[in-house]
Amino acid sequence: MSSQVLLDLKNVNKVFGDNHVLKQIDLQIEKGKFITFLGPSGCGKTTLLRSIAGFYTIDEGEIRIDGKVVNDLPPYKRGTPMVFQEYALFPHMTVFNNVAYGLDVQKRPEEEVQKRVAEALAKVKLTGLEERYPHEMSGGQQQRVAMARALVMNSPIILLDEPLSNLDAKLREEVRVELRMIQQELGLTVIYVTHDQLEALSMSDNIVVFNKGRIDQYGTPHDIYFKPKTSYVADFIGTTNFADAVVRKVDGKKLTIEYGISGHTHTGVVTTDETVSVGEKVNLCIRPESLRINAPHGENDFALTGVVKSSMFQGEKERYFIQSEDNKEWIVDVYDVGQTHYEGEVTLSASSEKIHVIKDI
Ligand SMILES: Nc1ncnc2c1ncn2[C@@H]1O[C@H](COP(=O)(O)OP(=O)(O)OP(=O)(O)O)[C@@H](O)[C@H]1O
Ligand SMILES: [Mg+2]
Repeated sequence: MSSQVLLDLKNVNKVFGDNHVLKQIDLQIEKGKFITFLGPSGCGKTTLLRSIAGFYTIDEGEIRIDGKVVNDLPPYKRGTPMVFQEYALFPHMTVFNNVAYGLDVQKRPEEEVQKRVAEALAKVKLTGLEERYPHEMSGGQQQRVAMARALVMNSPIILLDEPLSNLDAKLREEVRVELRMIQQELGLTVIYVTHDQLEALSMSDNIVVFNKGRIDQYGTPHDIYFKPKTSYVADFIGTTNFADAVVRKVDGKKLTIEYGISGHTHTGVVTTDETVSVGEKVNLCIRPESLRINAPHGENDFALTGVVKSSMFQGEKERYFIQSEDNKEWIVDVYDVGQTHYEGEVTLSASSEKIHVIKDI
């Protein structure tokens, strides 16, 4: 069943000295999903992963794996192996011995080890490379060995802590695709830690965005990008233009909003799933690719005039920095590079469905 909850975290808290690192973490992860923990350095990603694996004891809360509370179980009894960035593979061991390592530690009989390693290597399509050493393999193959090492333990969840951060950008992308394929083919449940937002958006079924030890949002890549719940999430993922606005009229999900500064206010209509009331201040969140320059726009669309301050060629797009009447800077991405170049006074607009309303202000 795709909706079976495999990992269930309730009110998980972890404190190091006077540093409250994990704060009231509630999270349910379903079987067979690829979940990414995303957030800046120091927000608690590794700490939560280590707490799930059993390397840290939590100070409050409950961790359930497959319905069973595992708070007091040591790592080897939880069956949640971690693949760490620091020691992806043992360089002095062959592929076979690398994969067999966990079973050797458990002192499993030789015959069983042979069989299970062969099965794990077959799953990641590395049969025949048993006697190679890591330095004799590509980065992608090494990553497969690391996966096989986790798979051989028949674990319900595989925890990967920034496993690709040592690879160069091109290889990283290849391995990313490969990792996602293995996960989908085998129906594995994977928790993957990264602070790379592109990686998170492109690989995950769901993303958990951390903000100083709390979960700000748990959702699909699409929702995280287009419907961020907080300004923090909107700001952390991609580039966002924010605008303060006041709600002037509420008609179901439709809001009439007023934005700009006194003397230069405009009104527009947006839709939202949030519950807001007349007079309430909200934050409008508009992606650079949603803004258009000198384009025709409807009466209810978001629109302002401004002056082009600078622009920057970025390959597939040109990024413009535009100052509006209220001295605010707007970032606008134009994708028909080479077709038109904008200078001087321009109008900026975005159709109302491209505007996302955030309540925290
Ligand atoms: N063993 C430890 N003892 C004391 N403090 C720790 C320990 N491990 C982590 N911390 C602290 O907990 C906080 C969260 O650290 P953590 O390693 O979980 O961050 P992270 O999100 O994984 O960051 P990064 O992206 O840099 O890996 C930091 O303030 C860190 O200094
Ligand atoms: Mg970390």
